[in-house]
Amino acid sequence: MSTEYDVVVIGSGPGGYVCAIRCAQLGMKTALVEKYKTLGGTCLNVGCIPSKAWLDSSERYYELVHHFKDHGINTDKVELDFPKMRERVEKVVSDTCGGVSFLMKKNKVDVYTGLGSFVDAHTIKVAGEKEETLKTKNVVIATGSKPSSIPGVDIDKKRVITSTEALKLPELPKSMVVIGGGVIGLEMGSVFLRLGTKVSVVEYADACIPAMDKDMGKNLQKVLKKEGMEFFMGHGVTEVKSTGKGVTVKAKAKKDEKEVTIDADYCLVAVGRRPYTEGLGLETIGLELDERGRVPTDEHLRTKHSHIYAIGDVTKGVMLAHKAEEEGVFVAELMAGQKPHLNYLLVPGVVYTWPEVASVGYTEQQLKDEKRAYKVGSFPFKASGRARASNESDGLIKVLADKDTDEILGVHMVGPRCADLIAEAVLAMEFRASAEDIARTCHAHPTYTESFKEACLAATENRALHI
Ligand code: FAD
Ligand code: NAI
Repeated sequence: MSTEYDVVVIGSGPGGYVCAIRCAQLGMKTALVEKYKTLGGTCLNVGCIPSKAWLDSSERYYELVHHFKDHGINTDKVELDFPKMRERVEKVVSDTCGGVSFLMKKNKVDVYTGLGSFVDAHTIKVAGEKEETLKTKNVVIATGSKPSSIPGVDIDKKRVITSTEALKLPELPKSMVVIGGGVIGLEMGSVFLRLGTKVSVVEYADACIPAMDKDMGKNLQKVLKKEGMEFFMGHGVTEVKSTGKGVTVKAKAKKDEKEVTIDADYCLVAVGRRPYTEGLGLETIGLELDERGRVPTDEHLRTKHSHIYAIGDVTKGVMLAHKAEEEGVFVAELMAGQKPHLNYLLVPGVVYTWPEVASVGYTEQQLKDEKRAYKVGSFPFKASGRARASNESDGLIKVLADKDTDEILGVHMVGPRCADLIAEAVLAMEFRASAEDIARTCHAHPTYTESFKEACLAATENRALHI
């Protein structure tokens, strides 16, 4: 027997479950199919949420050990209880996943546990404890992504690991090699560094977080280096060997071909993620993947079958939870006959290290490449009263504005609480504010947000007040 739906969403990550909620809100009979027992996808189970929980705990520990004394607080006997820290992370994850199950019930979304695959373009088979068949008018593919590897490197998940295993290590490693100085490498690298692990990052590019504005990577690397993170920039990994009790990583410098050998307890491979479509049966409906393994979609996130959509990590664009969520809402509204709008330029990017890095809009490099006339205003946190009061004066905010119209084109920041500060920049750009609009907006004193206002003052007419 089969059940009939308006929409079946395959995958319960932030793309899929948010899409299911919005579909249900719009009156569609909705099913959500997830192959794992817990809902929430990569983000809640092995991504955003556990990594931020680790970052938060490790940051508190690091502060206590290294910085509380600067405030006149003696903390001579601080003890790290690693299993307890991991337990807290697990509890945060299970509570958050439970929250999604609650939301599904509340919104009357039918949840099916099992691998979803296409029988034909309007029929989905769910292979779980029992097999079910769902007939549907529309399908949303939201099957997400998995970690990538590099040719010749065998991820044994014991000593050579991905972020998934790094989030659940049984012990605190003494040393770790991280391949890839991108977002996962630096976030997870920071967690272990703060807890006392010797962390060595091997990065192929010449700058960390190379996809972001160059100044941000440089600034962040300087702070992490000061805290003891070791960097092998411009190095390509040539060999990763597990000895069972540890790893040996060899890498060659691009510049002079000099080889380095690093021994460590673990090697974390963090060189990007790839779309996940295995077992979906796309071939039965004649859907071919693009050259990067993504489900091809048009500007409305429709595949070549106009009733089948793909959202989130499995299709083009940045692999971020909030991008997946926005796309989930977008396709739900589209199916309901609305005319939603999505502006990919305004999807912010955040790296939750300390200092945090955040950015939105064009980078300087992109503006240069497009030969667009722009002006720059920047403001260092060391000139902010609030940052000084909190001993948090590393970093800066950089505002890029159109040379003629003063419209804000990009905002890039590295410093305290930038993950939250970026929201003001996104909102400003959503309403197409000029740098002067922000410069003339009253910001509470003393707050970190004043630094954004000062950077906008600097961009407007080089008239920052506090530098
Ligand atoms: P996913 O979250 O990957 O969910 C896809 C779901 O589909 C999975 O549950 C999978 O089991 C299921 N599935 C797959 N195939 C089938 C099938 N055939 N049948 C049934 N179910 C299926 N992003 C941020 O924005 N901020 C962060 O701080 C952040 N931190 C991260 C930290 C780490 C360590 C990692 C790995 C990622 C992080 N990300 C972060 C990225 C973020 O997790 C992803 O962009 C996001 O989860 C993508 O959402 P999605 O819905 O497209 O897919
Ligand atoms: P990434 O793309 O951010 O970084 C990968 C890094 O590995 C790059 O700097 C790249 O130059 C480097 N690299 C690639 N091949 C290499 C090689 N052979 N040797 C050395 N270095 C090599 O990918 P990452 O960190 O794995 O994260 C995957 C995705 O997950 C991100 O793109 C992001 O979308 C998402 N994510 C987002 C987070 C956030 O929003 N805070 C946190 C964690 C992940």
